[in-house]
Amino acid sequence: MKDTLILGIESSCDETAAAVVKNGREVLSNVINTQIELHKKFGGVVPEVASRRHIETIDAVIDEALDEANVTFDDIDAIAVTYGPGLVGALLVGVSTAKALAYALNKPLVAVHHIKGHIMANFVAHHDLKPPFVCLVASGGHSHIVYAEDYTHYEIMGRTRDDAAGEAFDKIARVLGLGYPGGPLIDKLAKDGNPDAVKFPRVRLDRNSLDFSFSGVKTAVINYLHKKDQNGETYNKADIAASFQDAVTDVLCEHTIEAARMRDSKIIAIAGGVAANSALRAKMTDRAKEFGIDVIYPPPVLCTDNAVMIACAGYYEYMAGTRADLTLNAVPSLKL
Ligand code: KG4
Ligand code: ZN
Repeated sequence: MKDTLILGIESSCDETAAAVVKNGREVLSNVINTQIELHKKFGGVVPEVASRRHIETIDAVIDEALDEANVTFDDIDAIAVTYGPGLVGALLVGVSTAKALAYALNKPLVAVHHIKGHIMANFVAHHDLKPPFVCLVASGGHSHIVYAEDYTHYEIMGRTRDDAAGEAFDKIARVLGLGYPGGPLIDKLAKDGNPDAVKFPRVRLDRNSLDFSFSGVKTAVINYLHKKDQNGETYNKADIAASFQDAVTDVLCEHTIEAARMRDSKIIAIAGGVAANSALRAKMTDRAKEFGIDVIYPPPVLCTDNAVMIACAGYYEYMAGTRADLTLNAVPSLKL
């Protein structure tokens, strides 16, 4: 059978990325131009600055992805692009570029949901993975428990009612004065801390719901630090980082394992930036084992935003016959 090559394009937040993926699973190139340094001084992503940087770099990023894969536009079967959710101005750069390429090259255009992309990164990392399975997607903007029924259909079993897990990591890193993005910095610092130092709340909104709420734990950590500061008491930042991380990962694991048991899924996949967290990976693996459930995750570079996952999701949509036309628009709050 002829190989199918998909060019993936991703620009939903602060990474301009392009990748070429063969048959949905084999990475031929993975180019990521991260804007982290640019946004660091603001302590978070500035949407207008992100859009401008996407415009400046996207053409070069795509050229590099083709070069690295040793292919030309002629070899590409379809162009897949993230059209939401994300920052509208940022998304528009990828969507407009993909539409221009599809029109100029007369190639099919496939619109990809960013969260589906995160889940699909697991197919690239685990070549024998097949649906159905339960997946936890935790990133800077989303925290979902998803039942992946097949390659293109997903059912949401739980979602956050307020902050995303990654957002909580970023916020706590900021109040601890660690910098941006906070997740990797908390992950690193927590290795030197005691997770039992402070018992922060593990919120379960309601027994019958797998939904998350992270605003409570975030406020509890902030109040704890304020009180310490007001009383002129010192605290160990590593202990706070470890205790906070322990509370968040406890909840993520408990709800996800419960979801897997409800669906009798013997596999839990984790995805999204927070899936790069070493404590989450270890804890989920360890706890799921008790129930005979295997835990899988992509390498960190495929957990955070990238275009390989978009090309992979695009491949399965393309094979299912899904096509977008030139009226495609960015949808910042696109639902799963
Ligand atoms: O998936 P992603 O790159 O972008 C979104 O779609 O949001 O996720 C970024 C988020 C940030 O909040 C970042 O702090 C978090 O993922 N993150 C981590 C780790 N690496 C990235 N959180 C915890 N531990 C990590 N090692
Ligand atoms: Zn993402």
